[in-house]
Amino acid sequence: MTAIPSIERSPDRERIRTIVVPDHDDLARLVAERIVAAVRRATAERGRCVLGLATGHTPLRTYRELVSRCRAGAVSFAQVVTFNLDEYWPMAPDNPHSYLRYMWDNLFAHVDVEPGNVHIPAGDTPREHLAAACAAYEHAIREAGGIDFQLLGIGKDGHIGFNEPGSAGDSRTRLVALQAGTRRSAASEFGGEDQVPREAITMGIATILEAREIALLATGGHKAVIVRRAVESEPTPGVAATFLQRHANATVYLDGAAASGLTRLARGG
Ligand code: PGA
Repeated sequence: MTAIPSIERSPDRERIRTIVVPDHDDLARLVAERIVAAVRRATAERGRCVLGLATGHTPLRTYRELVSRCRAGAVSFAQVVTFNLDEYWPMAPDNPHSYLRYMWDNLFAHVDVEPGNVHIPAGDTPREHLAAACAAYEHAIREAGGIDFQLLGIGKDGHIGFNEPGSAGDSRTRLVALQAGTRRSAASEFGGEDQVPREAITMGIATILEAREIALLATGGHKAVIVRRAVESEPTPGVAATFLQRHANATVYLDGAAASGLTRLARGG
């Protein structure tokens, strides 16, 4: 396998470990390799690996890489347990826009994961049962032994999962209102902003921070401004991703375009 050239440094302004690779495909290979390593290590040590998984455009190529590695016999998901970050609410599980469908279409149907080991917040939970369902999700993560490796994207407003600006550092799995910008970003997939659900179930920031390892991925120039804030600003509820700076083993993976706002690159250095 050819080595992926990467720029890995911790310049003064960066408050979290940040790895920059030239393009999106390099990023997908690098992150897939890290996930494969996490699966091998945790299954060897504890007989299972618990992955926290994300949806959106960003992880798609990483999932494609994982599928090809699984098909090639380089990794097995037979002992992998998964917990997804979030789901729209309300959302029927078989709706093409559901994150449940996304995960089956893009990963689960193509690897040897046990369907019973897959967990995604249920978008069809009646409102009166949501509090109990969210508590049960937290309980299931703990029962599984906690998340070994958490994959994250970042919204243009800095959200991780659907922890929108204002989310508290001690937040847990809960129902949240989606902000206008988040709904606008999803509008084209749903065929109009008015079709995008107004609420979602998401793991909280505290839930995410309990993972043993965290990888936040961002690609594309449209993420450059928020990536700079996530990496270089002090932790603030205004940008949920800044809370990752408090984690001992969190890494930000960027392609060149998403990294272009960082001080180290903006200065030309
Ligand atoms: P994206 O979404 O990967 O589609 O950009 C990221 C997010 O909103 O968390």
